[in-house]
Amino acid sequence: MKQRVFSGIKPTGHLTFGHYSTAGKWPALAEQYDCIYCVVDLHAVTVTLEPQVLRQDTRELYATYLALGLDPEKNILFLQSHVPAHSELSWLLSCHTMFGELSRMTQFKDKSKNNANNINAGLFTYPVLMAADILLYDAKIVPVGEDQKQHVEIARDICLRFNGKFGDVFTVPEPQIAKTGARVMNLLEPEKKMSKTDDNDNATIFIMDERDTIIKKIKRAVTDSDGGVRFDPENKPGVANLMTIYSVATGKTFDEIEKEFDGKGYGIFKPAVAEAVADCLEPVRLKIRGYLDDTARLDAYMRDGAERANAIAVKTLERVRNAMGFYKC
Ligand code: TYM
Repeated sequence: MKQRVFSGIKPTGHLTFGHYSTAGKWPALAEQYDCIYCVVDLHAVTVTLEPQVLRQDTRELYATYLALGLDPEKNILFLQSHVPAHSELSWLLSCHTMFGELSRMTQFKDKSKNNANNINAGLFTYPVLMAADILLYDAKIVPVGEDQKQHVEIARDICLRFNGKFGDVFTVPEPQIAKTGARVMNLLEPEKKMSKTDDNDNATIFIMDERDTIIKKIKRAVTDSDGGVRFDPENKPGVANLMTIYSVATGKTFDEIEKEFDGKGYGIFKPAVAEAVADCLEPVRLKIRGYLDDTARLDAYMRDGAERANAIAVKTLERVRNAMGFYKC
């Protein structure tokens, strides 16, 4: 039997080149693994969202999965809110998750700092729902960017604790972090992660950005006065980030990139990065638009994905209920 892969993305705003860098690698996994990808709309509502915005972002994200090349026949693609077992398992797991370990989550600490007026309980228990997502499907491999590693690790800890108490109920998951592109950085402040919520639009490349916008943003990206194209994240974070972006867009290694631009300045390097990114995102953007224009097809894929995901999830939940001793009649 093939090992199972599970991952997800939150439908909050447009996706960035950082998401592309991580999720762009997912379609190839279907050759080797049994893959499930979720639009984690329940996770999205830890921040205040207008209902019509959530609906729109959810459709756009599902269309993006398809546009990235995730074939809905070879993968299960579904919405988290369409499978009720996620919420139920999340509650059960929360009774096996410690307050202290949730308090140590970096993302919780960062998000509470940035959202001081809305530090809700959902933000705090967010990693438990994420553990439920993963454990419901017996996922062995969870491909994520570097910022989600800690969340997959806590899912693993919760899993081991639960299995220790009730027997081998769940498969123990592990994070899969790509060697290149697991942390694409902000174009203007390359010590910060590229994120969709940055105040300055010029710091972030969005998958939906038009070619001219991408070119303008990359031309403005921060570099340094040294002038050489070398991979040195500590001393040359801006250039290292552009090399990472170029590597994700072209598949070239850092050695190959250094050779390609040896003796050439940023005046040659930056436009090459910009063209490569525009070339790789353009077909994705056009496909997203195409899928968004075909609501009937999008809805049909979502319904089918939900049915297939649900069939797996209810079985796991049944196993959990039995193991924990819930009365059955
Ligand atoms: P989210 O929606 O923030 O991001 C989705 C995926 O994209 C990766 N990513 C990046 N990778 C490289 N560079 C960046 N700048 C960058 N920004 C984002 C993230 O690491 C992630 O892999 N909690 C998760 C969603 C989730 C999930 C799950 C993931 C919910 N349940 C179960 C895996 C398994 C999140 O908020 O991802």
